[in-house]
Formats: sequence, C-alpha cells, structure tokens
Amino acid sequence: MAIDVEPTLFGDLADHRPLLVLLHAFPLDRRMWRPQVNGLAHILPVLTIDLPGFGRSIELEVAPNMDSWADAVAQAIEDRCQERPVVVCGLSMGGYVALHLVRRHRKLVSGLMLCDTRAEADTDEGRAARDAAILAIRERGMAPLAEAMLPKLLAPVADEATRDATRTLILEQPPDAARNALQTMRDRSDSRDLLPTLEIPVLIVVGSDDVLTPPADSEQMAASTPGSELVVIPHAGHLSNLEQPHAFNTAVSAFLGDAFLSG
Ligand code: MLT
Repeated sequence: MAIDVEPTLFGDLADHRPLLVLLHAFPLDRRMWRPQVNGLAHILPVLTIDLPGFGRSIELEVAPNMDSWADAVAQAIEDRCQERPVVVCGLSMGGYVALHLVRRHRKLVSGLMLCDTRAEADTDEGRAARDAAILAIRERGMAPLAEAMLPKLLAPVADEATRDATRTLILEQPPDAARNALQTMRDRSDSRDLLPTLEIPVLIVVGSDDVLTPPADSEQMAASTPGSELVVIPHAGHLSNLEQPHAFNTAVSAFLGDAFLSG
C-alpha cells in the first residue's frame, strides 16, 4: 500500500510520556511546526504528519473526505504510539482533521489542542469560495493562491523571514494536493455537536489578529467545551505557532505540564 500520510518522529519513545501529534494548516506541510519541534521535543516525543498530498506524503489512496483523512492519521499514530497517551494538536485544517479523528477514534486521543480553527462546517458562501479556488489552482497553479493567502495567514506585524518561509512552503505544495484539500474542507461535516461531549483536556489557541478563524470562533468553541482552556496569542494572525512561537510554545507546555506531565 502507498504511504498515505507521512509522519516524522522527533524525540524518543523510551519512556511513557505522551506523544504529541501535530497536524498542519492549509496549504502547508509538517515543516510549519519547526518552532514547536525545536521548542517541545525535549519535553515529550513529537510526531509531525504530512496530510494527504502535502509535503512528502502520497495522496493516492486516501479519498478526499475528512473521515478518510482522520482514519489515515489514526493509522499513522497507532503505528507509533506504542500504547502511550496521545495529545493531538491541529491548526486550522489540522484542527478540522483533529475533530474528525476524535469523532472516529475517540479512544486514541487523550488530549486535544484546537488552534486557529473552527468546529462549524463551511457556509454556502465558503463552499463557493472553495470551488473558485479549486478552479483558480487548476488554471494558474499555486502562485496566485500564495499571494491571496499570505495576507490572511499572517498578521501585518509578521516579519519578512516568516512571510518568505510561509510563501516558500506554499509554493512547494503540489497543486493536486491543494485542490484535493479544498474539496475535503468544503465537504467536511459540522463538528460542533462533538465539543460538549469531550471528556479530555482541551486547549484552544488563537492569534489575536486571526482573520480566517477569528478569536470569536475560538471563544464559541471554548464556551461549548466543558473544562477547556482558551489562550489568545497577542500580535499573531492565523499561523500563531509560526508568528509567535515563544508564546505558542509556552501555552502548549503549560497545558501539557498541567494535564499530562506533572507528578
Ligand atoms: C487553513 O489555514 O488550514 C485554512 O485557512 C483553513 C480553511 O481554509 O478553512
């Protein structure tokens, strides 16, 4: 069977510390998590996963729907977790996958981080925009997508290095992967009903200047998720983990410390 999602493990699995699984945003790949790998892999093992078609993965055998993506991610985790607790952190599109993963593989997930994402399905307007983007990529490739998305992904205060790195990551993704992901996101189901049923530690993180999934979305998710914690990262847009890595990592390590690593 082809490799459906491409996982990379950092740190070691020698003891029974939880495994932190990082699921990336659209249209990027596992490399967007470099600041988290650098900042967190000494605390616990970290698994970054390329979602179908992105980065080093091969998409052919994963159907373009969130359930199939969640199943492929579950398989990648099961192959590596060695029965330790698994904490899943998804940013934006990665958050959509994380919610589908919890719905379909609840026993696999011991903790959840939902970053710069939302639980609702797309609106009709959102679906139409996905269709237009699919068409635009078919006709003109990734460059116009990169230019259109950069101002939405990053806050105006983001530095040039972050801007350049993000643009490069987008341009390196295969157009087929982007079209496939747009279809997968367009057709995803609503996950709001799941939130009140979560009985695991949940951290919700959002950049204060996120225009794609604004803080109001995160506030709603937090209000619907009993016992969840909400952290707003100042001076960050949608890619809060890349824009303010120190604040992001501090929030994540505090959550992991309280819920999984103390004692
Ligand atoms: C992402 O960052 O993954 C996307 O903006 C999500 C989306 O388009 O809904």
